[in-house]
Amino acid sequence: MKRIAVLTSGGDSPGMNAFVRGAVKVAAAHGVHVLGVRDGYEGLMDGTFEPLTVDSGGAVRPAPGFEADLVGGMGGTVLGSARSMRFREPAGRAQAAKRLAEVDGLLVVGGNGSLTGAHVLATEHGVKVIGVPASIDNDIGCTSTCLGVDTALNTIVQACDKIADTARAHRRAFVVEVMGRDCGYLAMASAIAAGADAALIREQGRSEAEIVEATVKLVRHAFAERGKRRVLIIKAEGVEVPCTKLVRAVDEKISDLGVDIRATVLGHVVRGGNPSFQDRMVASRLALGAVNALLAGATDEMVSWQPQVAGGITTFDPSVQRFPLARVLEETKALLDGSSPITQRRLKMMEQAEGVLPL
Ligand code: F6P
Repeated sequence: MKRIAVLTSGGDSPGMNAFVRGAVKVAAAHGVHVLGVRDGYEGLMDGTFEPLTVDSGGAVRPAPGFEADLVGGMGGTVLGSARSMRFREPAGRAQAAKRLAEVDGLLVVGGNGSLTGAHVLATEHGVKVIGVPASIDNDIGCTSTCLGVDTALNTIVQACDKIADTARAHRRAFVVEVMGRDCGYLAMASAIAAGADAALIREQGRSEAEIVEATVKLVRHAFAERGKRRVLIIKAEGVEVPCTKLVRAVDEKISDLGVDIRATVLGHVVRGGNPSFQDRMVASRLALGAVNALLAGATDEMVSWQPQVAGGITTFDPSVQRFPLARVLEETKALLDGSSPITQRRLKMMEQAEGVLPL
């Protein structure tokens, strides 16, 4: 194997750069060159590659322009990312496969859509490809976490701590909306860590009226009966009722309480920032697993972070396992439609947490 390529695709996530750094270092150590693809599948179709390694003193080393030491600690993705519509068409994928003629393998770092693209490249065009789960949403099957989740959770918890300071000063309730697309994981996990009073997630399947009712009940109980000074409710973006609409509806029903309720949408703030230790560490170990997988001739698989669950093809690193992309995509679908045991377990946990959060 002489040359591999790496691309980052879909919503960027902290840890993508740490992965690229790791992949470059591991590949270079094996004498393999790495090409960085600009802007995900868009750059793949256009052939916009840049060398991340050079020949130097008889060895392969990171290219001077690719400051591996600096890049690994940066948020976003230095390679750029995109959500490509062109790549969804067979002609786009054929064009992408053609561009890979000079490359022995491809690493695709991204979420559900990006991994679907990787699977199709492997099955339609025989491209040797290994996927890497990277999405703050934590909605990918066969892995316990995705790159970016830990950093995103830290950002949410810090933001909630700050909001709680001002909420307490004014005796206010806040509904804080966090990203996560259709998956309530970020809302649920951050609610527990931030000591919120409740989490509202799509998976609970509540109607708008039920959500308003539950929020009113919670706010009343907290201020009128418990004498609390702040109420914090974390709402997942997957819950369809907009934050401001929810707050207005609740406000109308608590006018007798003499407290205010406000909405804060954290939005893309949650997706940015320097990766945490956990995200850098997992990224580096997934990079080792992914490059080794390509070197071993594997394809159409994803490297996953699985510190506990057995059942995959074990690698040199016991926490890194490889799963066929077809299985990953199937489990991802089940995770999102609620039929996965993981979603069931998360829901059960939420039900139990619901009794404890408002205390
Ligand atoms: O998938 C990551 C994510 O940040 C989701 O949480 C969110 O719904 C979506 O991307 C936002 O996408 P965009 O940046 O394209 O608006």
